[in-house]
Amino acid sequence: MDYESNGWISDGVYYYPHLFGGLMLTAALLGLSTSYFGRIGVPSLPCSWSDLGIFHEKRRGKKRIRVYMDGCFDLMHYGHANALRQAKALGDELIVGLVSDEEIMANKGPPVLSMEERLTLVRGLKWVDDVITDAPYAITEEFMNRLFHEYKIDYIIHGDDPCMLPDGTDAYALAKEAGRYKQIKRTEGVSSTDIVERIFSSQKQKDMKDIYSDARPQEGSHPAGAHVAQFLPTSRRIVQFSNGKGPGPNACVVYIDGAFDLFHAGHVEILKKARELGDFLLVGIHSDETVSEHRGSHYPIMHLHERSLSVLACRYVDEVIIGAPWEITKDMVTTFNISVVVHGTVAEKTVNSESDPYAVPKSMGIFHSLQSPKDITTTSVAQRIMANHEAYMKRNAKKTASEKRYYEEKKYVGGD
Ligand SMILES: *[C@@H]1O[C@H](CO)[C@@H](O)[C@H](O)[C@H]1NC(C)=O
Repeated sequence: MDYESNGWISDGVYYYPHLFGGLMLTAALLGLSTSYFGRIGVPSLPCSWSDLGIFHEKRRGKKRIRVYMDGCFDLMHYGHANALRQAKALGDELIVGLVSDEEIMANKGPPVLSMEERLTLVRGLKWVDDVITDAPYAITEEFMNRLFHEYKIDYIIHGDDPCMLPDGTDAYALAKEAGRYKQIKRTEGVSSTDIVERIFSSQKQKDMKDIYSDARPQEGSHPAGAHVAQFLPTSRRIVQFSNGKGPGPNACVVYIDGAFDLFHAGHVEILKKARELGDFLLVGIHSDETVSEHRGSHYPIMHLHERSLSVLACRYVDEVIIGAPWEITKDMVTTFNISVVVHGTVAEKTVNSESDPYAVPKSMGIFHSLQSPKDITTTSVAQRIMANHEAYMKRNAKKTASEKRYYEEKKYVGGD
């Protein structure tokens, strides 16, 4: 749970002299390159061992498979979270390489989120064990060797989209040759490009409303029509993201609610603080209608199920209510045995709020106001994108073309 306490390499995980035979077997069976072990002077074994019984027993609690995946994670969304979830499933420990602000700037223009914010978001994901903060934009041979030797990475993971270096060669050729490359399936229905477009169209809608004050929100007006794929929420995806556990006996249940739109570093920080007040954090996520009603009809940017996945991916969250009521009732408090109801001091501006949604928990003496650690809000993230309108439009035009090609050539890919 506490990523700060994880060292780069847990002591002794890598080398147990008395179990070394088993370790070598692991290496051989997993097809690790011989050079990896060559440096400690042990010959490799042929991959012909058929009796896996002993091997399986011994593998547990011994050599832990470390996998690596990199990215910018700018405007992080549940597609990123899902990629990292899949990556983690290919090993025991997931190390994420975060591309620096300078590298993003040089390769694709200004990032929306700072390194500090991106780091908070990535570290907040429940599948991430550690983060390397100086990953290159395109992986280099030198960096790959550092991953293998310094960070003891076993496999480099990447999505099923090809990644080319400026000279047109496959960025992962080296890792592939060494048998140290694994691929995961792309998450359909969301991309940063798509989110930027949604923000633009939401802003446009707001401007229209400001001009024609009686304008009604159009049916299905967001997201922007440009993208082909739509997020199709399945119960399987929710199960994959969920912890699947209820509160233990005598647990102190903490409740926090909100829109959690454009899930950002401020959300992670407040969820962390909320979780520290008890043993089980229950998060109520307001429905799209509730958010529109209280924040303005141009919100939310992300749909209820998308927002739910982003919140569920956060390591401090135990459970979510998908479509929580605006007002907290006595019945809800009883149903979930809620001991503390928290609310951050930094919140979105609300319209239409005659009554206090926290009146009941306040009267019960279980309401707790939490000082928000960051003053970032969904609106402020959206505004940063609007401020860089021109640059993003240009970047998006390029991306949109390659996305279009992807969808034209798209075929079914197995896996999850
Ligand atoms: C309800 O929560 C309180 C603590 O806040 C706890 O002591 C109690 O055991 C919980 N009830 C059940 C049935 O778990």
